[in-house]
Amino acid sequence: MRATQAILLLLGAAALVFWFLMEPGNLVTQSAAEPDPAIVEIVVPETLSANGQIGKTVFEAACAQCHGLNAVGQADVAPPLVHIIYEPSHHGDEAFQRAVANGVRGHHWPFGDMPPVEGLTRGDVQMIIAYIRELQRANGIR
Ligand code: HEC
Repeated sequence: MRATQAILLLLGAAALVFWFLMEPGNLVTQSAAEPDPAIVEIVVPETLSANGQIGKTVFEAACAQCHGLNAVGQADVAPPLVHIIYEPSHHGDEAFQRAVANGVRGHHWPFGDMPPVEGLTRGDVQMIIAYIRELQRANGIR
């Protein structure tokens, strides 16, 4: 009799464990992590020039909330700037200056307009451009 009770208890425990594991959200897995909003996967260069480093800091303060860290884009928000569309021959440095000073009317992507970004000098934007170009070159966009 005691053996039967023990077996029933074990079966009950096994059922509980099984139920717990099957319950969505109880297992911590890779897929339970935050969805990755990046639009492109890029190689991040190991080193940046001095200007590129300054540009990275400015970019992270003024642009990354939309364009993502390392300019990989953000799903539903803003495009990656490390993208063939923004290669220097299609979007030269002046396109970056204009985007920051005047904003951008959405045309390449379905994300809507980019508002002008206040408080940056042309020199600041030049640093951002240096940074973006270094990211682009590290990813074969030149
Ligand atoms: C509020 C979100 C937001 C912020 C902040 C933002 N952008 Fe944008 N940006 C966008 C969106 C959205 C587009 C895409 C417009 C389109 O559909 O072509 C864009 C496009 C651009 C373009 C392409 C311009 C063109 O001529 O097509 C450049 C360059 C750019 N952004 C640079 C920057 C830089 C540099 C900063 C920081 C100083 C910045 N953005 C901050 C949302 C943002």
